[in-house]
Amino acid sequence: MFPAQIDHITATLYQRLSPGRVLHCIGTAHAAVTLALRWSANAEDALVAALLHDIAKQEPEDVLRRLMQESGASLTDEAPFQKVWHAAAGALIARRDFGASEEAARAILLHPTGDAGMSVLEQIIFLADYIEPSRAWDGVNDIRALARQDLQAAVHDATKRKTAHVRERGTELHPRSCRALAEAEEQAIGIRQ
Ligand SMILES: [Fe+2]
Ligand SMILES: [Fe+2]
Repeated sequence: MFPAQIDHITATLYQRLSPGRVLHCIGTAHAAVTLALRWSANAEDALVAALLHDIAKQEPEDVLRRLMQESGASLTDEAPFQKVWHAAAGALIARRDFGASEEAARAILLHPTGDAGMSVLEQIIFLADYIEPSRAWDGVNDIRALARQDLQAAVHDATKRKTAHVRERGTELHPRSCRALAEAEEQAIGIRQ
């Protein structure tokens, strides 16, 4: 696979995404591989999933609709959640055009929302997107440190922050985000008891 496939992926990122978004994808790959080494996940899957996680982010709506249909997602169910369509579309592109593994594709699918019961790789991609080196929001260093000590706790913390932000915007939470938040809140109750 290496390095030809990585060169091909990187060249495709530059064709399909703005320079700023390419930097975000490379930063996500840096964070994901670092976490994969820390938590004994498959670093190759982490690299491929992180580089490709936003590959469909700048596709026009008609292309995203077609990719969503191809992926088997229900356009009726997903209609209120257009912001996360690029994840299902990206998972399809990663598998179909780049030979990504099922595990890597599923991590791409879950990257904007998380879900309950995520695998280590899925947790890593979810977090890496949120804490990659170009992210500068208040508290990001706390989650970066927590991710090195307790991956699941960092995922739950990130889930609470991300869903609070979505609610502040007055946007409906995706069902996967609701499941992820429920898991994070159950965990917090368990810790307090
Ligand atoms: Fe994304
Ligand atoms: Fe992203």
